[in-house]
Formats: sequence, C-alpha cells, structure tokens
Amino acid sequence: MFQLNHVNMYEQEHQTVKINTIKGNLWLTALTPEIIHIQDDAAHATNSYAVEGNKQEVVPLTVAVQDGKVEITTPKLRIEIDQDGYLDIFNEHDQVVLADYRGQREKTVVQFSEEQQELLKAEGHVVVKQSTASKLEVVKVLNTNDHFYGLGDKTGFLDKRGYTYDNWNTDEPNQGEEVTKLYKSIPFLIGTNGITTYGLFFDNSFASHFDLGKESTKYFYYTVAGGGLDYYFMLGSNVADVVTNYTYLTGRTPLPQKWALGYHQSRYSYKTEQDVYQVTQKLRELQLPCDTVHLDIDYMDGYRVFTVDKNRFPDMKRLLADLKTNHFKVVTIIDPGVKKDDQYHIYCEGVKAQLFATNPDRSVYTNSVWPGVSVYPDFGQAKTRQWWACNQKFLTDLGVSGVWNDMNEPASFNGPIPDETVFFDENQPTTIQKMHNLYGHNMARATYAGFKKQTGNRPFVITRAAYAGTQKYSTVWTGDNRSSWAALQMMIPQLCNLGLSGFSFAGTDIGGFLGDTNPELLTRWIEAGIFSPLLRNHSCAGTRMQEPWQFGEPTLAIYRKYLQLRYQLIDYLYDLFAQGESDGLPIMRPLVTHYGTDPEVLNLNDEFLVGSDLLVAPVVAPGVTKRMVYLPEGSWYDYWTGYSYAGQAYYLVDAPLDQLPLFVKDGAIIPLRPVTEYIDVQAENMITFKLWGEQGTYHHYQDNGADFAYQNGEYNLYEIKMTANNDAIRLMHHGYQPVYRQINLQRGDLVISFYFDATVQTYKTK
Ligand code: GLC
Repeated sequence: MFQLNHVNMYEQEHQTVKINTIKGNLWLTALTPEIIHIQDDAAHATNSYAVEGNKQEVVPLTVAVQDGKVEITTPKLRIEIDQDGYLDIFNEHDQVVLADYRGQREKTVVQFSEEQQELLKAEGHVVVKQSTASKLEVVKVLNTNDHFYGLGDKTGFLDKRGYTYDNWNTDEPNQGEEVTKLYKSIPFLIGTNGITTYGLFFDNSFASHFDLGKESTKYFYYTVAGGGLDYYFMLGSNVADVVTNYTYLTGRTPLPQKWALGYHQSRYSYKTEQDVYQVTQKLRELQLPCDTVHLDIDYMDGYRVFTVDKNRFPDMKRLLADLKTNHFKVVTIIDPGVKKDDQYHIYCEGVKAQLFATNPDRSVYTNSVWPGVSVYPDFGQAKTRQWWACNQKFLTDLGVSGVWNDMNEPASFNGPIPDETVFFDENQPTTIQKMHNLYGHNMARATYAGFKKQTGNRPFVITRAAYAGTQKYSTVWTGDNRSSWAALQMMIPQLCNLGLSGFSFAGTDIGGFLGDTNPELLTRWIEAGIFSPLLRNHSCAGTRMQEPWQFGEPTLAIYRKYLQLRYQLIDYLYDLFAQGESDGLPIMRPLVTHYGTDPEVLNLNDEFLVGSDLLVAPVVAPGVTKRMVYLPEGSWYDYWTGYSYAGQAYYLVDAPLDQLPLFVKDGAIIPLRPVTEYIDVQAENMITFKLWGEQGTYHHYQDNGADFAYQNGEYNLYEIKMTANNDAIRLMHHGYQPVYRQINLQRGDLVISFYFDATVQTYKTK
C-alpha cells in the first residue's frame, strides 16, 4: 500500500487542514470548537446556498501526526484521519462520537428483475424505483443505542433509525410511512445515543439518500448523485445544543410579524370577493379569533401569477382595504410556473431577459402546471431573483400581507423535468440535477427580498419546497396531507423534526387537505395543532368545506375554545420566537430535545413540548377519551385543573372530546393575554404572568410586532421573578415605547397588579 510520509501528509492554513489521503484530498476546517467542515477537492471549490456569510470563529487548533494518522484537536473535539481517508471523531472525554465504517457495505436491497417489474405493474402495483443517488458514499458506524432525528418533513416517526429517505423535492400527495421523499430536502441529521450527540449536515443539493440502519445494523450511510463530498460535523452536549450549532451555520428562523402567529383560514379556493366577505364575516360573527385569510390559485386570471381575475375580484385593492378595517390580513398564493402566453407581460419579460430555464439547445423549457403550458423562472440566477422580487410590488400595492409559494419543488404535471434541462447556479449554467432541490429555496429567498423592500416589514412567506437554510426566508407547511387520523398522528413527528432541522415556523393543513374531514377529526386536529407555529386550516377543492362552523356544535365551541387559548398564549409563542433568534430552538419540540438521556422519549410520537415549559399530549385516534401520558423528569401541573404530577412516570389522563391534555412544568411562568379576536400590538397595554409552582423566573420580549426596528434596539425585555416572599418586575431593556401600563402576577387564583411608574421607570403595586 502507498505510504505517505509525515512530511506530506497534511498542509495547514489557519484553521483549514488539507490531508493527503489515498482517496484524494480531504479539507477539514474548524469553524467553531464544535463545528468541523469536511470537503473533498470538488466541494472545496463550490459555494453554498444554505450557509451564508463567514461562519468561522477563531479556534485554537493543534495538528499532529500520531501512529500514521493526522490528529486535529480543538478545545471540544479530536479528529483522527488515517491514510485511507477514514475519519473518527472523539469528544473531550476521549469518547468516540462518530467513526467511519471500515467494512464493505452489505447490499441487501432486493432489486426487481425487469420481468417481475412488468408483472407487478400489470397487477396495478406501483414499482418503486431504487435510489440512483450513488456517486459518493459516506458510511458511518451504527451503534446499538443510536437514534436519529431531523431530515425536515419526512414521513414516518420521530426516530428515523431503521428507515431510508431520499432528498429530491417531490410533490407527493401520498404521505404514508413508506414514502421516502416529500417536498423538502434538508440533509441534516442528528444522532444521539443518550451519552454523545452530534449533527451531520451534508450540504450538497444533488439527489441524496440516507439509509439509517435499514440495510445493516452495523452502519448507516449517505449517498449522493453528484457534486462533491461536503459535510459538516457538529458536536453538542445534547440535541438542543446540536440544533443551536446547526442553526448557527444555516441561519435561524427570524422573528415574524406578530399577526402571523394568529389563526389563518384558507381554502382551495375562496373564489370570489363574496366568498371572502362571507368567510371573514362569519369568523367575526362567531367570535372565532382569526388574523388572516388565504387566497388560493382561483384569484388569478387563468392562473397567471401576478394578475387578478377581475370578474371574481373586481376591486382587489378595495376588498383588502375593507378587510383591513376589520383587522384581517390577506395572503395570496404565487406558484413559480409562468403561463406560456405571448400576450402576458410576465412571460414576455422573462423570455426577453432570459430568465427561464432552458433546454440544452437554449430554447425555453416548457412543462405543464395549473396555467397549462408553462415555463420555469430560473431562480438560481441573481437577475431572476431580482425580477421576481420586483414583481412582489404588484401584490404589496394591492395590500397583500404575505405570500404563499407553492408548487416549487418544482411540480411538473407533464412528467419529470429532464435531467439535462439547463438551470443556472448563479452565473454558471448547470442542470436541474443540481438546482432542483434549491428551487423552492431560491424562490422563497426572492419573495422575501421583494416583500422586505416593498413593505419594510418582516416578510411573511410560506413555501412548500425548501432546502437547508430556507428557514431564514420562509415559513413552511407540510403540503398535501390527508383528512385522516394517520395524517394527524404524523403531524407531530413531522413538525418536531422540521423544528429540529431549523424550521421553527412550520405547520400542517389543520383538518387535512385531501379527502373529507369529520367533526371528531377536526376537533382533535385543532387541539393537537393549536401550538403548531403556523396555524392554518386549509382544504382541497371538491372536499367537504372545512371551516369550523361547517360541523355544528360541539365542534364549533371546542374549536373556538382552542383558538382562544392560542390567542391567550400568543406571547409565550412570540417570546419563543424572539429567543429562537439566538438559540435556534424550535417552538414545537420533541421531548428528546431536552430529555435525551431518558429512554422513554427517544421515539415518543404523540407528545411534544412547546418551548420547554408546556407539554402537549393530544388525542390522535378516534373514539379515545383517556390516554397514557409520559411526563419527563421534574414536576408537572395539569393546565386545566392545576393538579400536580411527579415526572418520569406514565399517567392515564382524561381526554374527553373537548379536552387537550396539557401540562406545565413546575417553576414555569407563562404570559397570558386577554382573549382577543385578532392581534393588535398597539392595544396591548396589559399582560398577566402566571406562575406554576413556588417560584420561577421568566423573560418576556416586546416590540412593535411588525418591522426591523427591534434590530436597532427598539424592544423591551422584562424579567419577571416570583419567589415565596418577593415578586419583582424588572425592565431589563427599554427601547420600545410604550411599555405595559399594567402587569399582573398570578399564583393560583391570586392576582397582584403592578403599574408602571414612568418617573422611576419601574413597576409598583398601588
Ligand atoms: C397544491 C397545494 C395546495 C393548494 C393547491 C392549489 O396542491 O399544496 O395547498 O391548495 O395546490 O393551489
């Protein structure tokens, strides 16, 4: 075997070490003491869409050669790379955190013969194509106690061990457990065995594949169809730490406008202005708190983006202004597919400026989506993104408050976009193979830029397709789910894993999109979904109408009760978003985020935390009125009765149809607002903080809920401290006017009011 000598085994430049191995060069860069970037030559020369800006901190690094291996040591970890290019990572206690697998893979997946495939097709079965993502392979040792999380919105359960997944953004209405790919590609994985925890982020947009212990119990692997070897290893002392590191790298979900945390009512479609007036009137009449109504594709003229159908919406601007006086915002859908129509200005502009994807002969590529024959804006090019951003002005001029980007995998009704179709990677022509998984990301990014420029507010964008890092620009929803109990159940692990993958602002279609919902399902869905950061009821054309009043009582009353709970707790959510800008932690969290050493929570699929203080245990099956709840370490209180439970135990709790099992951690202080029908930041001059237990401390954040002024210090930060003999409110940062006039501190039923004394800038009881 070729022996390398010590002299030319590695070269070092600052925090980057280039190691000469038999498999080629490996470039290792220490970005922080816990985050290491690993690349081959090909990857070292490329740029990233997920990681923006320089993430390199000063890291004291030692590099040495020991027993024929290069050893790189940071204050937190040590990496050993041998001459064969195998790499093992140890923590500061010298425990192996992650090791390369040295053996051969044992390929056990059965491929169908051509003949078998034909027989299966004849019987009406779909033949699943094996993944072709195999240009590069990374194989790591799998240990008995390893569990996996992350990967975005993939189907199935919380713990991804034992399953395979593909990253190829796909418009997939079947979201069964066996489906390996959905709308988003977030090639980020968290591995933990309860003792050591790490993250692996493979920053390569080509089609990729994860096998997390299905092929073998000895290893897990990643393969990718193109590009170079490009991944980040990140250490953490627990799952939460790894999420903080990952979001340091790929960006954090920014603080949204506050109204966006309210309730959204949607339908494919509210087709006319009468429909919109009716639905908004009904919401107010029935006292169902709501801030936003969504307009699906039928508001457009023949599905041409950036147009309005004048017959259905004769004066969109007036409609939106009217709704505004009633405190409703409107979000409109915008798909990427541009109708091929010589009379249509968007199409003509795009052709002229060469903004659309092309065939290899440079003619504009066409496929079919809602408008019929359509072309695809090439969002990998800066000029296309700028043009798209400018087009948002059409919407903002009408008074539209946010944009819902759909079909941006991108969907193509007329078969897949051929591999050789030309899309640009900035100034370089490449193909769909590289740019496909980035398409939704770049579209959302352009939409965000346009809305920011036009309104000066924090843009509200929803996207269906995404790549790692899209959380900086957009919220997401999980696409076309079904009105089924299985879909309700899956919402929990799906949103939890999205949260762990950086997407704090995520939701599902409440009630289910495809098929008909029913009163019990919708009721349990709103209970389970009330803490999903993006709270939107949406359903498909041709299905049973799904607004809460369509089902009579008790559905309506229960639905209202939970919307009211959401609005009461809106500041708890907003505080978590504000906190998330610095720790990256999601709103909806699986219990493993904070209790990773507790084996009971490693694959707990029907409970989740909201922040670290609320524990939600929804009913996700029909006919159930009692359920088993696991409460982790510590003491917990029943939100409704105040009854106290000791943690690390299972309890059978009552869950009649109108009751969501909800628990509060001992020592928590939870902000509570009076119930309102919409979010009105200007009117918020009083707030209550309720203590659960004997004592606690809480930090509450307040700003104008709209623009970026908070980034220049225009916010308030309150510290609420409640102890057995002393309650105190401290204004830690005062940059936003006004402050609350009154703050109530509550223990049990006892409420003490404090009032702001402007002369001494403190809160006092009268
Ligand atoms: C897609 C979206 C869905 C939308 C429909 C019509 O199926 O996922 O939410 O209602 O298109 O625009």
